[in-house]
Amino acid sequence: MIRRAPVLFLPLVLGACEGVQTAMGGDGAESARFIDLFVFFTAICTVMYLLVVGALPFALWRRKRSALTVDDRRHHHTSPVVGPALAIWVGLVVLGLTALTVASFLTDRSNAADARKPALIVKVTANQWWWDVEYASTDPSRTMRTANELHLPVGVPAQLILTSNDVIHSFWVPNLAGKQDLIPGRMTDVLLLPRRTGLYRGQCAEFCGVQHTQMALNVSVDSAADFRRWYDSQLQPAAAPTTPLQLAGYRYVTTRECSSCHAIAGTPAGGQVAPDLTHFASRRTIAAGTMPMGKGNLYGWIADPQSLKTGSRMPTVGLEPAELHAVVAYLETLK
Ligand code: CUA
Repeated sequence: MIRRAPVLFLPLVLGACEGVQTAMGGDGAESARFIDLFVFFTAICTVMYLLVVGALPFALWRRKRSALTVDDRRHHHTSPVVGPALAIWVGLVVLGLTALTVASFLTDRSNAADARKPALIVKVTANQWWWDVEYASTDPSRTMRTANELHLPVGVPAQLILTSNDVIHSFWVPNLAGKQDLIPGRMTDVLLLPRRTGLYRGQCAEFCGVQHTQMALNVSVDSAADFRRWYDSQLQPAAAPTTPLQLAGYRYVTTRECSSCHAIAGTPAGGQVAPDLTHFASRRTIAAGTMPMGKGNLYGWIADPQSLKTGSRMPTVGLEPAELHAVVAYLETLK
């Protein structure tokens, strides 16, 4: 059983190399460079390790022999082999360390070069426990907000300006790049240069309270045309209600408790302390990746958020069944 354990772990190790949340995906320029650096470091360190382990039996054998007679020991101290071997070993160590230093310097330089020419700027603000995402533009009519999801065009360097409204969080989309802290009262940034279209998962990587694990970010890397289509759809005001039930939901959401925290563009709801809901139903998940978007989860989340995400800032309002039906029907129209 014990001998079989490494074989059983193998699929787990290989499984970690692919998927929507892996540092071995190489789907972003920085991530790909880090993988190359990791492989290079591992190769050099493996060679050095094997040399040390390989030299160990030889050293033990020599020591054993030298213990035999005093004459032998004297002989070994003046062995003509030791001098050159030592020189070669020191040379190898210096060469190895130099190679590692140069490789990490070049990787850092390439990452810094990307960061000098961002073509897209997105402001990401962390909150307990969700992500506020704002696409900045010099044209105010092209500025828009969303939450818990990030769309990026493939091959375009995007600079994310990061900050936090409460405690320290950490922004991490392992498929694309390394981690960066979000600190209240300070701006940090990270550059994402996606190489492949696809869906990825970001995760807060710094413990930030009881729902730290339920603080995920959906990242979609789109083709240029898909990104433009998505961006234009997000600039539109919210869809208007068309049925009496949706209208009842619209009235509730935009005039009662919901609107004091949430904003819905084109309606009286203008709260700024909770996720923007203008295109809420177009997102893949609810409550920062806590559950997939869907009617059943929507009912559960609105009826009793505290039992699904304990400690969340979303209160359990205590809607009547008719109100709940109406609110869900309206929110589902916000595509
Ligand atoms: Cu935010 Cu952990």
